Amino acid sequence: MTETLGLGVLGLGEGRSIISAGVNSAAWHVACLCDTNAALAQERCAEFGLTRYTTDYDAMLADPVVDVVGIYTPDHLHADHVIRALEAGKHVICTKPFIDDLSRAREVMAAQQRSGRQVMVGQSTRFFAPFIRQRAHFDSGALGDLVTIEASYSADHRWFLNKPWARQPAFKWLYGGISHPADLVRWYLPDVSEVMGYAYLSANGRAGGLANPDTYHFVLKAASGKIARVTGVYSCPTVPAERDSPMTCILRCDRGASQADYHELRYAWKIGDQAAIESFEAQRDYFFRFGGVSHHAGEYQNYIEYFARCLAAGETPKPDVAEGVVTVALMQAMDESTQLGRPVQIAEVLARHELGDLLAR
Ligand SMILES: NC(=O)c1ccc[n+]([C@@H]2O[C@H](COP(=O)([O-])OP(=O)(O)OC[C@H]3O[C@@H](n4cnc5c(N)ncnc54)[C@H](O)[C@@H]3O)[C@@H](O)[C@H]2O)c1
Repeated sequence: MTETLGLGVLGLGEGRSIISAGVNSAAWHVACLCDTNAALAQERCAEFGLTRYTTDYDAMLADPVVDVVGIYTPDHLHADHVIRALEAGKHVICTKPFIDDLSRAREVMAAQQRSGRQVMVGQSTRFFAPFIRQRAHFDSGALGDLVTIEASYSADHRWFLNKPWARQPAFKWLYGGISHPADLVRWYLPDVSEVMGYAYLSANGRAGGLANPDTYHFVLKAASGKIARVTGVYSCPTVPAERDSPMTCILRCDRGASQADYHELRYAWKIGDQAAIESFEAQRDYFFRFGGVSHHAGEYQNYIEYFARCLAAGETPKPDVAEGVVTVALMQAMDESTQLGRPVQIAEVLARHELGDLLAR
């Protein structure tokens, strides 16, 4: 029998998806669960036929059966939880947003370097069938050179405001939601350098107790001069999915164009007079195993299996710490742009946190 990686899961709300991924993957076993809510930990153990859980993160970190810690706690706790896992000698998979401000970014990077362990940001959308297909199609060269990219993630997430931490001043949809389309843009345009945008807190969001905006439109510019667009709206109803996918990525290239859509498991492209709309509907049960489309464990299974392959090959899984931190800098630049009413350079944000060297990598 080949040896499997032992997964410890911290935070068992969305953490449920990586548990499902781990128990269904031939490369992994779920070694331990951890949440400050003991009843939830017991519920998850019963759901997945597991026995080992703790409410004490340090106890899980001291457990030698855990090789990799999957972090699914509220956004503002990620930096602390990542650093502690690295200090305990564990590899880390941290959900998006990787961190929600840059004040501890240097510390996170130093901890990773000291430990020599791998850290991957769980940018789940990259691992969803239509987006995997779009990336492979683009990489094949069939679409030609990228001209522009438009990415958006808009959903009626008023239900999310039932979580007490979502109503705290620390919670921002800018990090929780925009982290998906911001990552998609940087996946194709890693040299994005500047952003300008507006943000607004809707009456629906305010009524739900949200402290920060829930409505965003941004225009981005890359060092090459290419431009892109990112949109996110989180407290309004959405139009029918046939007309507007909640998560979508459009690549407009010099020979063709393509669009990957999320819940619809759909990929459309046109090159010259050839066009197709491809469906990944056959994989619906793999991606969406429970909770309708609000949990999408198939993406997590794809990314933990990719992580395991990288570890076996001695490669760095992506997005890694450096890429993740620059994406956080992009989101911080977005935030500042909405407050200052002017374009903000990622370089100026990074420099303020002594992270300027990251752009040279
Ligand atoms: N597509 C995706 O990748 C995706 C989707 C949803 C949520 N997320 C991310 O997952 C994270 C968690 O979101 P959620 O919706 O599960 O929130 P949640 O509130 O449902 O779950 C968070 C859990 O963490 C536990 N917790 C809080 N502090 C803790 C601590 N110090 N130690 C141990 N456990 C602690 C809570 O008890 C709770 O069970 C967020 O960062 C969110 O952005 C990612």
